[in-house]
Amino acid sequence: MNPIQREVTIGPCRLILGDCLEVLPTIGKVDAVITDPPYGNNYSTERRLGIYRPSTRITGDILSEPLLNDVAAVLEPLLNDVAAVYWFAAPDRLDMVLPILKRWQVINVIAWDKGNCTAGDLECSYGKQWEAIVFAVTSKAPLVGSRDRDIFRFPRMNGADYVHPTQKPVELIEYICGRHSANLILDPFMGSGTTGVACIRKERQFIGIEKEPKYFDIAVKRIEQAWRLKCSELPFEPEPVLKQKTLCD
Ligand SMILES: C[S@@+](CC[C@H](N)C(=O)[O-])C[C@H]1O[C@@H](n2cnc3c(N)ncnc32)[C@H](O)[C@@H]1O
Repeated sequence: MNPIQREVTIGPCRLILGDCLEVLPTIGKVDAVITDPPYGNNYSTERRLGIYRPSTRITGDILSEPLLNDVAAVLEPLLNDVAAVYWFAAPDRLDMVLPILKRWQVINVIAWDKGNCTAGDLECSYGKQWEAIVFAVTSKAPLVGSRDRDIFRFPRMNGADYVHPTQKPVELIEYICGRHSANLILDPFMGSGTTGVACIRKERQFIGIEKEPKYFDIAVKRIEQAWRLKCSELPFEPEPVLKQKTLCD
């Protein structure tokens, strides 16, 4: 059976609806992976409930050490010789994630400082203000630009702007793209397509895979919008490309 349930091409972006474990073996080599896999929390705070209706729960967000391990194994042969991997993780899940990513050279565990914290347990715990991003490479290569520190400060978006419960700021992903000369960037857990939007802004090619149709549709809309904007800014006028393939084609 074809693992690609639907495929949409928008400018330099190839968006695929399907399970990444099944789809990944069908794609070719990539220069970088920037991904934010399911953390396995599948929870929502009272505060967020007021923001993201009808549900802030992430469909399919199950804690899945075997899934992450299998995805990393399937990714291994797809990475170019000097590929970079950025893999988001909850700080308290690093004990599970780091061994999985040690198949590559782990260079940094970056703290993404979100500027504010999730509500969580208000009385007995410290507010969680940062998330981890593990930066690993297949082999070392100089970063683009001047040396930076391992704390990235990019404020979380306003609650009202969320179209996915764990959406990341485009500026954060754009910054990461800009530190590498990678041409083709992959996000096997695309969600609402933030990595794709960043790739369009930074003029990179992108492959995104998402298994939930509702998030896939949101990603298509956001990336199409970003591509239209990009086309309007270019000194020449490329035709916005939007091609769709479904299982029926
Ligand atoms: C943490 S979210 C990514 C959010 C994204 N960074 C954004 O800004 O919107 C992880 C996504 O992975 C998707 N997912 C989970 N398992 C998957 C699988 N096996 N294949 C493809 N996508 C999957 C979930 O549906 C969810 O949308």
